[in-house]
Amino acid sequence: MHLPWCVRKCPYCDFNSHELRGAAPYARYIDALLADLEDDLPLADGRVADTVFFGGGTPSLCPPEELGRFLAGLAARLPLAPDAEITLEANPGTIEHGRFSEFAAAGVNRVSLGVQSFQPGLLQAIGRIHDAREAGLAIEELARAGIDNFNLDLMYGLPGQSAAAAAADLEAALQAGPPHLSLYQLTLEPGTPFHRRPPELPDEDSCWAMECAATERLAAAGYRRYEVSAWARPGRECRHNLNYWSFGDYLGLGAGAHGKLTLSDGRVLRRRRRRRPLGWLEGPRLEGEDRPGPEALVFEFMLNALRLVDGFSVESFESRTGLPVAAALPGLGEAERLGLLTASAAGRWTPTALGRRFLNDVQALFLPVGGA
Ligand SMILES: C[S@@+](CC[C@H](N)C(=O)[O-])C[C@H]1O[C@@H](n2cnc3c(N)ncnc32)[C@H](O)[C@@H]1O
Ligand code: SF4
Repeated sequence: MHLPWCVRKCPYCDFNSHELRGAAPYARYIDALLADLEDDLPLADGRVADTVFFGGGTPSLCPPEELGRFLAGLAARLPLAPDAEITLEANPGTIEHGRFSEFAAAGVNRVSLGVQSFQPGLLQAIGRIHDAREAGLAIEELARAGIDNFNLDLMYGLPGQSAAAAAADLEAALQAGPPHLSLYQLTLEPGTPFHRRPPELPDEDSCWAMECAATERLAAAGYRRYEVSAWARPGRECRHNLNYWSFGDYLGLGAGAHGKLTLSDGRVLRRRRRRRPLGWLEGPRLEGEDRPGPEALVFEFMLNALRLVDGFSVESFESRTGLPVAAALPGLGEAERLGLLTASAAGRWTPTALGRRFLNDVQALFLPVGGA
């Protein structure tokens, strides 16, 4: 579920997120989300929803009662697993006292908190609306609300950041005891203010050293890296994201959302919603849909599955794409020859340490001829 509004647009962000001018029409937005859901129901075909993810944008700006109205509407239309993982992305600058308790009462049982850094100078340098104190308060609010399943987002490779500063941020995050941690290297995305006027960033080698140090520290603290940017305590992996990365099916509702569903004939259907929030609200909400061909399916599968530290099995490739593994063998063989992937006797393909470091190059081996 995509909720597109933010208090302010961060200068590095290329998500479909839009700065709020005045009050956002959340009641209308939730009505339209439910209408999107109605449209997709025939495709969901009575399947059980195992996870729900409110992403953004800044979903924590949505009034909890509106979020609760959506969840009640969802449960009335689609079987929701009794132990469904229901995640809310939250910006610490939007968490007032008692806010997480209200979200928990609405049904949210997992929170992903965009902390990014605990250092005032760095938070300012990347244009965040909150300071370190607010991040600490939001973490306290989580405990008060009884939400013990949570993720902290941290970024590294920030303007002027030293290795010691990156390590201090990680220590501060670990102090909070998060069951899950996501660690992203700041990337300069085309179309963003940071891309147009790049700040001075640590060089590649320094960023690599920050990542290696973090990997070592997190392993020592009992976290397992299960995806390029994700670490979790045992059993606390994000079920929702694991479904994306293993090329499972999902509905994508809201402005700019993409969904993917396997139809009864085994073919995959992709649906895209209109990107601009007001355009999507006015309707028509659907921008288009397509049925990716074999080459696109191989690429999309690899784009996702190769992010996983454990890679994928031949069996999951075949069941998730509906294609024989032979369709991927040219790319797999080349990646193996280059030392980027290894294959086990049991039919599991796994990125090597080198493959993880140069993941884009591994994924590019599966690009359809003529581009994705
Ligand atoms: C949709 S945002 C999370 C929720 C909320 N909007 C926030 O920023 O607190 C997802 C996460 O992606 C990461 N991110 C966004 N843009 C990035 C970029 N250009 N480079 C690296 N990480 C980025 C940030 O860590 C951010 O928390
Ligand atoms: S708050 Fe999050 S989604 Fe919004 S602009 Fe900043 S990084 Fe992007």
